[in-house]
Formats: sequence, structure tokens, C-alpha cells
Amino acid sequence: MSIKYQRPRGTRDILPEEEKFREGLIRAARRLLESYGYTFLVTPSFEYAELFSRSIGSTTDIIEKEMFVFQDKGERVLALRPEATASVIRAFLENQIHPPSKLAYVLNMFRAERPQRGRYREFWQIGAEALGIRDPLLDAEMIEMAVKLLTEMGLKDFQVEINSIGTPEERDVYKRSLLDYIEEKELMRELTLCESCNRRKTVNVLRILDCEIDAPKLVDAPVILEFLSRESYQYFEHVRSYLTNWGIEYVANPKMVRGLDYYTHTVFEIKVKDLGAQDTVCGGGRYDRLVEELGGPATPAMGFAVGLDRVVVALENQIPKLKGPFYFVATVGEMERGYGVRLLKKLREWYIPSDMCYELKSLKAQLKIADRIEAQKAVIVGEDEILKGKVKVRDMVTGEELEVDEKELKTIYENSIQRHKAS
Ligand code: HAM
Repeated sequence: MSIKYQRPRGTRDILPEEEKFREGLIRAARRLLESYGYTFLVTPSFEYAELFSRSIGSTTDIIEKEMFVFQDKGERVLALRPEATASVIRAFLENQIHPPSKLAYVLNMFRAERPQRGRYREFWQIGAEALGIRDPLLDAEMIEMAVKLLTEMGLKDFQVEINSIGTPEERDVYKRSLLDYIEEKELMRELTLCESCNRRKTVNVLRILDCEIDAPKLVDAPVILEFLSRESYQYFEHVRSYLTNWGIEYVANPKMVRGLDYYTHTVFEIKVKDLGAQDTVCGGGRYDRLVEELGGPATPAMGFAVGLDRVVVALENQIPKLKGPFYFVATVGEMERGYGVRLLKKLREWYIPSDMCYELKSLKAQLKIADRIEAQKAVIVGEDEILKGKVKVRDMVTGEELEVDEKELKTIYENSIQRHKAS
């Protein structure tokens, strides 16, 4: 067999087992976020490209290299969303939602990154954005909520890293100092930057701290914390003291700047241990200037997004095997088919996962199918049983058979669910 079409590079098919597992994770996430006062929204998969370049920053990797940009027939420049914070703000402003407002989403994102395990060109984020609140209590709560979310999803070994990157003005002074440090090192021939970072030096020096190749070379570079104003520093201290009081473990990472330009003050990332190169499962931070930047009134805000695909990679070996239908109705001969079909309808009215063989086949062939699709029990309908008003239930694993009244099929199913829950 030669397959004619393959999925586009960097995309994935999420097959039923994983899909079912993901659904459970999403349900848990929704429940948790709703308990913190968030309500969910859906925004379009594509927006005007400028929305993203204005917010994420035109000299970031996402905008420079990774965005899927296209033109519509009216030659308007559109882009598949690479992230949703900008979209949420656009929706917040366009729909005149009043702050304070807590919005959450489960949406797919698109970035043309080099694909590898945990890094895809289409991926899913569970995100939360709180608009119109500026208090360290919210920053700390966001981090606590992210930790709780990952814990409830089943992650164990992860580490929270936090930093403050101050205001854009404080950052400008820091950037100058970082550049001075780099230039001095270069002058002394103690440092050679990669090609991209050589360019970043002039366009966005902070991004060098994100570079896998060059960031490790800047061990003794100045850190942004030293450039924060007293007010910014105290704000950060306040966030930290909440976390400490609540027993949330974190490490301060003074070199963390995040890959998007819109952040101010608190930023954080959560990394799962032993997950390999793509170990960041959550990223977020405060973005107090972004709403204004996009044409709205001054509205402080903060948010984060969890990478659902990476959470699933981390929990890969916990994905339960899917079971086949609970009942498979098999009929002894053609005569009993009508009875079998009616019985199947009844089982489905009780929402019991059930199936049967659609084509007319021998009982043996029907049971073979039941076996192949891993049905748990076969319900065998024969003339004798119909006359007695009964059906035969065969356990497909043990082969054990019982003759029961039709309505007992419901009890058998319910008991099995109870046993499953208890184990
Ligand atoms: P981000 O750090 O770009 O932030 O993405 C958040 C999370 O999405 C990452 O930590 C990662 O788990 C996941 N992710 C990113 N790229 C990929 C990829 N190519 N494949 C699989 N997973 C990926 C944001 O997007 C911000 N909007 C977060 C935010 C919300 N900040 C404030 N509010």
C-alpha cells in the first residue's frame, strides 16, 4: 500500500486513546479555572497579522520566523494565531467586556518551529488571562493556580521559575548595560555570538538570553533585577512572600526573560524534570501595557498558558488503554436480528456503549468481531431466549455465561462501572 498523503510537517493526529485522555485533562482544567472565577471563550483561529506583531514584538522569533502568514482575497494580511493573549485582548476590547475580567481558553496555536518531541507546528494551550487587576496577590494566585492545574492533571516532578523584568523603561536601562557587557567581552575576545545573536544585539538584545547557544555563555552578565526601581522590586518581593506563605516552591531565575516582548514585572515558567529539550509546560506573566498598546484604556493584566501536548507527553505512560463497547449484541440467526436491533436501541437509550455486527453473519463470525473490537460482554439472542424473555450474556474474557432478563443488562453495566470506580 502506498499512502498518497501525509499530514503536514510538525502536525499530529491525536488518536482516540489520547483524545479521551486529553478530554479528561481539559475537564479537570475547566473545573479548576472556573473555581477561580474564570469563564471560557473561543476566538478565531486567525487574526490580522499585525495584532500579533504589535503585541508579541516584531523582533521575536515567533514573529520573525514562526508565524503562518497568508493573504485573503482582499489582500489583507492574516496569520494563524501563534498564541492567544493578543486575541483575548482584541476580543475583550472589541466586545467591550468590562474589567476586572477573568477569561480562559482551550485553543490550538500554530508556530512554524522545527518539529521535535513536545514541539509541534499545531499545538494546544489551556490559558487564563485576568484583565484589569494589578496586585501582587493576583500574580501569586496565577502562579499557584498554574501549579494546581498541573498537579490536578497528574504532573508531579516540576519546577516553578520566577523573575521580574520590571517596566519597559527599567528594561531599556538594563538592555544598555547587557549590551555594554557583551561588547566588552567581544572586545576582549572572550565571547563570540552566533549569527542570530549578532543581529539580536542591535534589534533586541534581551532575546540573546533566550538563545540556546549563547545564553549559557553569559554567566556573569548583569541581571535585570539589579535594574528594577524600588517599587518594582517591592512588588516582586510581595509576590514572592505570598508564594512562600502558601508553601509554593519556586526558584528565582534572574535570567528568565520569556520569548514574547509584552511582559512587564512578574514572569514565570514551569518545567517538568526529565522531559527532554521541550520541558517547559507552562509560561506566563504580567503584561500591564499591552491593552493600551492595542488601543484600549490602561488595563493591567496577567496570564499564563499551559502546553497541553507537552503535558500529555509527560504523562504518556499513564494513558489508559481504551476498551471496546461494553455489550456486543450477537444474534443466533436471521430471525432474531430484528429483536437484536431493538435490544441494541434500548441499551443505547441507557447510554451503555454497545454495538453489533451490521452485516448478516454467522454467530461464530459475530463473536469473532466482538473479540476483535474488544467488547467486554456479548449479549446472545437466540430463539429459545426470546421465548423465555431472556438473553444470554457471555463475558468475553472469562467465557462465563449467564441467562438474564433484558432489564438486568443495565444493572450488570452499572455494577461494573461501580467496581471500576472502586478499584
Ligand atoms: P509561550 O511560552 O509561548 O507563552 O507558550 C506557553 C506554552 O505553550 C509553553 O510553555 C509550551 O508548553 C507550549 N508551547 C509553546 N510552543 C509550543 C510548540 N511549538 N509545541 C508544543 N507546545 C508549545 C504564550 O503563548 C503566552 N501567550 C502565555 C501567556 C498567557 N502569557 C500571558 N498570558
